[in-house]
Amino acid sequence: MTTFGRLPFPISLTGEGVALREWTSEDLDDLVDLLDEPDIARWTPMPSPFDVAAGIAYLKRAQQGRVTGQRIQLAITADGGKPLGEVLLFGMDLGLKEAELGYLVGAPFRRRGLASGALGLLSGFAHGALGLSRLLLRIDPANTASTAVARRCGFRLTGEPPILQEGPYGPSSLDTWELVEAHADIRRDRLRNVATRRYGRRP
Ligand SMILES: CC(C)(COP(=O)(O)OP(=O)(O)OC[C@H]1O[C@@H](n2cnc3c(N)ncnc32)[C@H](O)[C@@H]1OP(=O)(O)O)[C@@H](O)C(=O)NCCC(=O)NCCS
Repeated sequence: MTTFGRLPFPISLTGEGVALREWTSEDLDDLVDLLDEPDIARWTPMPSPFDVAAGIAYLKRAQQGRVTGQRIQLAITADGGKPLGEVLLFGMDLGLKEAELGYLVGAPFRRRGLASGALGLLSGFAHGALGLSRLLLRIDPANTASTAVARRCGFRLTGEPPILQEGPYGPSSLDTWELVEAHADIRRDRLRNVATRRYGRRP
């Protein structure tokens, strides 16, 4: 793994039921299929319709962000093959040791735990390998699927004032959720304890 600027590249992570890998130009058709979809248009800043030209621009920007070390944008896959969604880390503040994360999953692949698996895996990497202590999500409270993912991964509402923004669907507000390292450790311990109770302690 080489480091371009601040963030390592390339990255591949496996665990929590998913395999995360770098995007490649061969993913273009799958990317367009995934992102040209009403919920993604509604809840993310993706252009809509998301056509081949948008896909080419998106992959180019993702690659630039990786090479300059500003962002991590990884395809969510089951086994390293076909992309089923995306998880990303951006807006890293080294002074505050914090960064923002985001995620999306293609409509046919939802409600299988992919977003929560990918978010849990990248959060663990951000805390462990990148040394970040506070991870943030910004979510419209009406986006029940996304708030469920945040809760399932141990994120908590911060109570910070909502971020107001204008979009093609009118004004909206984004709540800030956070995962601080100590809470993530407690959650991991709880999950481990549940596993130990269920399956017995491994030698
Ligand atoms: C939000 C999104 C990424 C969820 O992906 P997913 O892979 O289906 O999520 P998961 O399968 O990991 O589900 C995690 C939890 O959310 C719940 N959930 C998922 N979709 C839901 C929905 N439409 N309504 C209510 N709960 C939902 C699941 O039941 C699960 O809850 P549990 O912990 O009680 O089991 C997906 O719906 C999506 O891509 N939406 C459009 C893009 C988007 O909103 N991105 C986030 C922007 S902030």
